[in-house]
Amino acid sequence: MTEKSAQLTLGENTLDLPIYSGTIGPDVVDVGQLTAQGVFTYDPGFVSTAACESKITYIDGGKGILLHRGYPIDQLADHSDYLEVCYLLLYGELPNAAEKEKFESTINNHTMVHEQLRNFYQGFRRDAHPMAIMCGVVGALSAFYHDSLEISDERHREIAAFRLIAKMPTLAAMCYKYSLGQPFMYPKNDLSYSENFLQMMFGVPCEEYEVNPILAKAMDKIFILHADHEQNASTSTVRLAGSSGANPFACIAAGIAALWGPAHGGANEAVLDMLTEIGDVSNVDKFVAKAKDKNDPFRLMGFGHRVYKNYDPRAKVMRETCHEVLGELGIKDPLLELAMKLEDIARSDSYFIEKNLYPNVDFYSGIILKAIGIPTSMFTVIFALARTVGWVAHWHEMISGSYRIGRPRQLYTGSPQRDFVPLDKR
Ligand code: CMC
Repeated sequence: MTEKSAQLTLGENTLDLPIYSGTIGPDVVDVGQLTAQGVFTYDPGFVSTAACESKITYIDGGKGILLHRGYPIDQLADHSDYLEVCYLLLYGELPNAAEKEKFESTINNHTMVHEQLRNFYQGFRRDAHPMAIMCGVVGALSAFYHDSLEISDERHREIAAFRLIAKMPTLAAMCYKYSLGQPFMYPKNDLSYSENFLQMMFGVPCEEYEVNPILAKAMDKIFILHADHEQNASTSTVRLAGSSGANPFACIAAGIAALWGPAHGGANEAVLDMLTEIGDVSNVDKFVAKAKDKNDPFRLMGFGHRVYKNYDPRAKVMRETCHEVLGELGIKDPLLELAMKLEDIARSDSYFIEKNLYPNVDFYSGIILKAIGIPTSMFTVIFALARTVGWVAHWHEMISGSYRIGRPRQLYTGSPQRDFVPLDKR
């Protein structure tokens, strides 16, 4: 924090608005005193608004940098594993060997879900979208774990975080199993986080499931790359829900709902649908033209980002991982060829260059998920599973500090006050 200020003249008054500096990144102007002057700031979409102070994740969209607790995402993706990144996001530091082992064993101890939760699944249609099921069952966790709902108790908050991180793979895999009509698989706690998820997705009780280490490593990398992303729509939703004092399970269910949309987490599913629809390299130009047409609502899914005006650093790692995984598995997927062609054309087109539209994290992730055998409808669920730690870390950071209920204001453009008109006079 500094003693800089900005002057704002409002009619006769000149206000001194304090400016605060973070460790890195843009300064912020504190506009809190404007309400007393009878004006609000106006920033639809929160393009210029810092809604909170945070120590978790930093993004420099211009340079294409993403840091978790100071560590660059590519270093974490190359050298760390998902549970270690979870620890880092939650506690602020990388764990030492003993802390890592204890954290892994704690998460493992919470992987099962209450047996009655199975009944919730039976209430859904078999063809329900798995994100619809996830919104319901994650919110329903608050009906089962009453002993971790006291949000003012730090230990309760910590246990709720463990439970959410540990149970998400189990709940996610249960969605898939339910859609197939196969029995739910219990977690196996001698497996790693990503191995366990694959076992619950693809194993069956009548056979031993052998985890392919290439797939487990790719899955783990995908989890790392989605773990957190600062104050995006779903994280802001979790913070807003949490600011009212709502319990963590309900807050994460709200985050899942916000993530579902195609402009956010739903984009990974939309990318694969789009690539399938394009079908062949010869159709790429037609779709690029559609994306550029102002009168056509079509957008190139997996392109563009509110914050990145450069290559999304997660997309860079995802692109490399995609080549590695397909190479190691010996898969030649025409969709990868199509995606690369689309990227080449879009990145040499003045429309995309001028608007700084680069591939984002979702552009290549679907191709890897498809190679792992995950159906398209589960893609956004994988994002939700991995992002849970980010949501929980932000929720915990907020509740541990001083916070007020989030309550944005508005520019009202509706009718001024008028008198009620009785039915026979309308
Ligand atoms: N294809 C074609 N044009 C685009 C695209 C696109 N994918 N994205 C943005 N534009 C254009 C847009 O039409 C607008 O043009 P103009 O200034 O002439 O009106 C300009 O670029 C700025 O777009 P915007 O919608 O004002 O930008 P935004 O910051 O509000 O939206 C976005 C960001 C990610 C929602 C948007 O780029 C988009 O819809 N992308 C496709 C969906 C997608 O891939 N989403 C995943 C985001 S990354 C994962 C995550 O964080 O969830």
